[in-house]
Amino acid sequence: MHHGPRKSSLSSAAAQNGLLFGTALCTSHLLSQPLTRAILRECSIVTSEYEMKWDAICQVPELPDYASADGLVSFASDNSLALHGHTLWWHEAIPSALRNAADNRFREAALEHLRATVTRYAGQMHSWDVVNEPLEPAHGRGNGLRETRFAAAFGPDYIETAFREAASLDPRAVLVLNEMGLEYTSPAAEQKRRQMLALLEREKARGTPIACLGIQSHLTALEQPRDHQELRAFLREVRAMGLSVMITEMDVSDHLCPRDRKQRDTIVAETYRAYLDLVLDEAEVLAVSTWGLSDDRTWLNGFRPRPDGAPQRPLLFDGAIRRKPAWHAVKDALATNRTVT
Ligand code: XIL
Repeated sequence: MHHGPRKSSLSSAAAQNGLLFGTALCTSHLLSQPLTRAILRECSIVTSEYEMKWDAICQVPELPDYASADGLVSFASDNSLALHGHTLWWHEAIPSALRNAADNRFREAALEHLRATVTRYAGQMHSWDVVNEPLEPAHGRGNGLRETRFAAAFGPDYIETAFREAASLDPRAVLVLNEMGLEYTSPAAEQKRRQMLALLEREKARGTPIACLGIQSHLTALEQPRDHQELRAFLREVRAMGLSVMITEMDVSDHLCPRDRKQRDTIVAETYRAYLDLVLDEAEVLAVSTWGLSDDRTWLNGFRPRPDGAPQRPLLFDGAIRRKPAWHAVKDALATNRTVT
């Protein structure tokens, strides 16, 4: 049973400022007692890392399997944890049998999946990543929209379609447009921020019920700057539109850092602190979530392996579920009282 925020936990630090703190998890994580205890102690929201994705539920399109997703919903409900659903429509989570289906078949299947899933959990979800990663400036479209099966089959209105359907079926869930790479300093990232603002303005003008911008926050230590004026300006514009923000998938890759653990852990902690201070200063943040709680479960060993082959140390707990310097950095940032300027 979740005992609510306790002293010196991330969830209690977050609660001091009306925030939720959480992590992404799979039902397999719950087989580990130490990890489950840490999740219950530290978190007030959890995110489905994999098991609520379309390709995970519909491995057999005609036979959607919600067993694992149901397990996550029960775990959250039994422990009074908020649940952030990830993700309804994402180009990297299309069931293989549908990837090359005809447009009308694809549309029908994508809508059926969204409707069935949102309906199944209506009233139990804190929020949904309704659409994930809609932008890709490199695809050369004027509006920056990523070339995906959703854009091809529905046209650019697919975002409005998804959000209107989700809002009609679960009016209580916070509906999130989730994106990666808005945090970086490259010219492409600045272009992506501009295109995201234009997209949000367009959707707002047509009444698309987007309530919140999800910022994945997959950061790289030694690349993420201490301060970042363009990101500050972007967040101020998002706030001026009346949109809240969720930090949805935060982790700090240490693949550019020296091998020495103490050095890596210090650099990673400093990166978390500077980034969170910036975002919490500028945005109306609902929740801060990391993409996993302990280093041994990070997706980064597959996605961004260190050149020297040493296991990544990107998260707040080590493989033995001991708090790292990054835990203290995040706790301090969450607990810092910020006057809205
Ligand atoms: C990743 C998961 O962590 C992996 O386990 C899975 O194999 C691939 O997807 N952006 C996202 C997440 O929105 O869904 C991705 O999660 C990480 C990048």
